Order: sequence, then structure tokens, then C-alpha cells
Amino acid sequence: AGAGKSTIARRLAKELGFYYVDTGAIYRPVAYFFDLWGVSPKDIDGITRYIDELTIGIEYDDEGVQHMIMNGMDVTGDIRTPDLSQKASLVSAHAIPEVRSFLMELQRSLAREHSVIMDGRDIGTVVLPKATVKIFLTATPEVRAKRRTDELIAKGQKADYNKILKDIQQRDYQDTHRAAAP
Ligand code: DC
Repeated sequence: AGAGKSTIARRLAKELGFYYVDTGAIYRPVAYFFDLWGVSPKDIDGITRYIDELTIGIEYDDEGVQHMIMNGMDVTGDIRTPDLSQKASLVSAHAIPEVRSFLMELQRSLAREHSVIMDGRDIGTVVLPKATVKIFLTATPEVRAKRRTDELIAKGQKADYNKILKDIQQRDYQDTHRAAAP
């Protein structure tokens, strides 16, 4: 989070005329859906009970901008909150196998059908292990927290550097210690 993956991937895709695929944005509507139902991302029974009510779609507009569609609604503008960052991280760690394989297939089908720059934590290792080019990009938590803080302030939102730093460290821990695709 905040290392600059999406900035660089987006520029590269534009340069090459490829699709830019933000895979975090595929996890976020899943977290949003369970949030709307009041189901905790760790509540496996709740996830199993409601999962059949969820449909996730991905569309590209004429400018090549990725839109996430949840149950027919465009939720692209609603899914970038710090709260949903945390919940998407938990959902990705606790997802039932059906959710995981559905999301995996959605990502792989995009790469089968188009030339893509795909951005996400487990793309080179798990989603597209045979990718032609793999780039591992990271930065210190402090630099990443500063980037996030600046981004939020530029958007006119409130941002607390220390809280953002703590959130980033917590999410790194969750994403790297989960059982599936750590
Ligand atoms: O990249 P992001 O902050 O939008 O991702 C939100 C969460 O989704 C992240 O904390 C873990 C999960 N995720 C994942 O498991 N695999 C990906 N390729 C992308 C995101």
C-alpha cells in the first residue's frame, strides 16, 4: 500500500496501450458488500450465508478507467476509504475458497483476454506466476504513509499521518501472515 504501484502501473499501461488492472479494487467491493450487510470480514458463517447475493463486475470506460460494479451499482468512488482498506485486507485473508477462486478467475480472465499491466500484492507469485515481466515495488512504511497522507490532503480529506502509518503496518502484517497467498 502506498509504494506507488498504481501510479507507475497506470503510466506504463498508458504508454504501452495495455489495460491497467487494479486488483485491490476487485477485493474492495467484496468488503463493501459485507459491510453493508453488517457481516464482519472474519465471520465465515456470515460470508457463506450472504455470498450468493453478491455479483462483482469489472468494466472499462472509453478512457480505459476501471470501474467496479457491485450488484449492478458502480461503486468505484465508494471503495477507497481507509476503513474499506482494512476490511478488504481482512476479507482477502479470511475469504472462503469459493470467493478466493472466483476473484482469482476474474483476474486471470482479464489477462487471458487483454494485454495487461496488473497491479497487486500476489500477482507475480499466485495470480499470474508466468507473467512476462514482474516488478516488485516497495518503500519504507514511513514513505508510504507520507504518500497516502499527501494524497488524502490533496483530495481535501482529513489525514492523520500517525494513524495512516499504523494502518499500513497493520495491513502489511495481515497481508503477509495470511494462510492463502501471503
Ligand atoms: O491494493 P489495495 O490497498 O486496494 O488492496 C486492498 C486489500 O485487498 C489488500 O490489503 C489485500 C487485498 N488484495 C489481495 O489480497 N490481493 C491483491 N492482488 C490485491 C489486494
